[in-house]
Amino acid sequence: MIICVCRNLNSKKVTSAIEGGARTPACVMAQHGTRFNCGKCREHMSEMIEKVSRTDEASPAGMMAAE
Ligand code: FES
Repeated sequence: MIICVCRNLNSKKVTSAIEGGARTPACVMAQHGTRFNCGKCREHMSEMIEKVSRTDEASPAGMMAAE
């Protein structure tokens, strides 16, 4: 599924950036060597980042970090 039409970033590319440590939509773009154009994809990227962050908090590693 294409997330960013302007920069041709699909969900796989966005996910790999998030897994690589990107925690803002701008970081996702930077990891792929680009920047926002129209910005319409920003909200969807934020939702994807939020999902991963919630998963991190629920994981044993995330729980250890909170201790
Ligand atoms: S859809 Fe991502 S910058 Fe336009």
